Amino acid sequence: MRIVVTGGTGFIGGEVVDRLRETPGDEIVVTSRDPERGDRWGGRVAMVQAFAGDPLSLGRAFTGAEVVVHAIQFPNHPVEDPARGRTYLEVDGKGTRVAATVAKNLGVRRFVYLSGAGAGQGRPQPWFRAKDMAEAAIKETGMEYALLRPSWIYGPGDRSMNRFLFFCRYLPMVPVIGDGKTTVRPISVKDVARCVRMRSGGRMRRTRPWSWADPSASAWTRSYAPCRRSSAGAGRCSIIPPPS
Ligand SMILES: NC(=O)c1ccc[n+]([C@@H]2O[C@H](COP(=O)([O-])OP(=O)(O)OC[C@H]3O[C@@H](n4cnc5c(N)ncnc54)[C@H](OP(=O)(O)O)[C@@H]3O)[C@@H](O)[C@H]2O)c1
Repeated sequence: MRIVVTGGTGFIGGEVVDRLRETPGDEIVVTSRDPERGDRWGGRVAMVQAFAGDPLSLGRAFTGAEVVVHAIQFPNHPVEDPARGRTYLEVDGKGTRVAATVAKNLGVRRFVYLSGAGAGQGRPQPWFRAKDMAEAAIKETGMEYALLRPSWIYGPGDRSMNRFLFFCRYLPMVPVIGDGKTTVRPISVKDVARCVRMRSGGRMRRTRPWSWADPSASAWTRSYAPCRRSSAGAGRCSIIPPPS
């Protein structure tokens, strides 16, 4: 089976490719804007150039594929750069819509999408609007699909939790997103990748979005506890919720 992983050079995509490569016989194709840059698989996966929102390059990458795993995100996110088209709506929203349409037209059987926690609720913020647009477009194609909605993903190479670990270690106080009561459920990138692998193969028994942000999730402030324990500066940092 030929499986294409868009954004396969990224934090999550890379781990997904590692897991997918464990299945003998599958052919894994990784898209990148710059496939000549070199990759961690040393030539053992096919690298193909493709750009978000570009039907031609995506079409070349998806030709002959049975499954597409879509994990593109613009560089330097979450900081948008509209002048360079690096926004959630452009890259994740419209870009996913194009990718799903191209995949459908080329006969791709299943589309696995890295959505995110909180999607599907009609929230107005750009990230949620982009995820909602992307999910709706995928459903409209009629392909089999898996919409995965992880919360905070950590692991080797992550630029999010590691940043907060840095804050915990070196700053006298750490920022809290929202009022500190918003729930998050950190999950290892390895578990996400295992889940993607499960959703990529075999029969599709479940099509409703798969979310890890369940009621057992921790409030932001509690999620800091392991960071603080593991950091040299534990005890020095205090958590300052923003004014309500
Ligand atoms: N990280 C999290 O905690 C988290 C949580 C929930 C959901 N997600 C979702 O998971 C997905 C992947 O996130 P990530 O953290 O793995 O992102 P990432 O590490 O930043 O990787 C994104 C990949 O997208 C590719 N890319 C960037 N701009 C592109 C463009 N214009 N055209 C084509 N490819 C482009 C890059 O590949 P090249 O540089 O090789 O082109 C890069 O490998 C996103 O949809 C994100 O919303 C992430």
